[in-house]
Amino acid sequence: MPKFKFNRLQWFVHIGSIIPFLVMLWDAFSNNLTVNPIQEITQRTGRTAIIWLVFSLACTPFNVIFGLRPFNQVRRPLGLYSAFYATLHVITFFVLDYGLNLKLIWQTIIEKPYILLGVTGFVILCILTFTSTKKSMQKLGKKWHQLHRLVYLAAIILLLHFFMALKFINALAITIAIILVILLLIRIPIIRKFFIKRQPAWSRTVNNYLTGRKKKTINSKIDNPAFK
Ligand code: HEM
Repeated sequence: MPKFKFNRLQWFVHIGSIIPFLVMLWDAFSNNLTVNPIQEITQRTGRTAIIWLVFSLACTPFNVIFGLRPFNQVRRPLGLYSAFYATLHVITFFVLDYGLNLKLIWQTIIEKPYILLGVTGFVILCILTFTSTKKSMQKLGKKWHQLHRLVYLAAIILLLHFFMALKFINALAITIAIILVILLLIRIPIIRKFFIKRQPAWSRTVNNYLTGRKKKTINSKIDNPAFK
């Protein structure tokens, strides 16, 4: 039996990330996917993919602003779940909706240029997914960080794809746009330094809760190397 050594935050992230998929399966089997199930699946998977992409981008700022280090551990899984939902979204479009009919797909791309933005964003997400392993990190060295900065480009391209796919701009699209701007601003070194200096005192308590660690005491079995 494989042993999972997840902390509270990791369990929360994994369970929370599988829920949209399970809800979609449940709705599919109980005929609850509206009168146009393919469109419903395309929209749900697309929305989940972009929301989870923003979640993964928010991990570093969470650490910078609030000193919540455990969020660094869930950045990769959140990114992988985003890629998972994006793959479902793309498969739904190409296979379920267009039956892999290349002529029809090409016609749609010409009519709806936002599809091309989706394809570009998806290609970047795939590159980032395949190079997200420790092995790739060691192999690419400094170049790995440069490559993984492309995630911001992907987020901007996919946000455009989102806006252009909508008939009416909705609250979710505006919220994601605002959050993305904030996340990009926090990357600016001066703003970053400002927040690092002002990390709140409660961050340690929250970190202990999220990782399931007990507070540091002299006799703590967790912190005492003799018990490790
Ligand atoms: C090959 C790549 C892609 C294709 C062909 C594609 C195709 C589409 C299509 C046709 C729609 C309109 C659905 C409808 O309203 O009927 C759509 C919407 C959307 N797509 Fe994509 N997409 C791609 C990649 C992505 C990726 C990678 C993401 C996010 C990570 C994404 C997120 C979205 C979102 C958020 C919507 C709007 C959903 C809504 O109406 O609420 N797409 N996409």
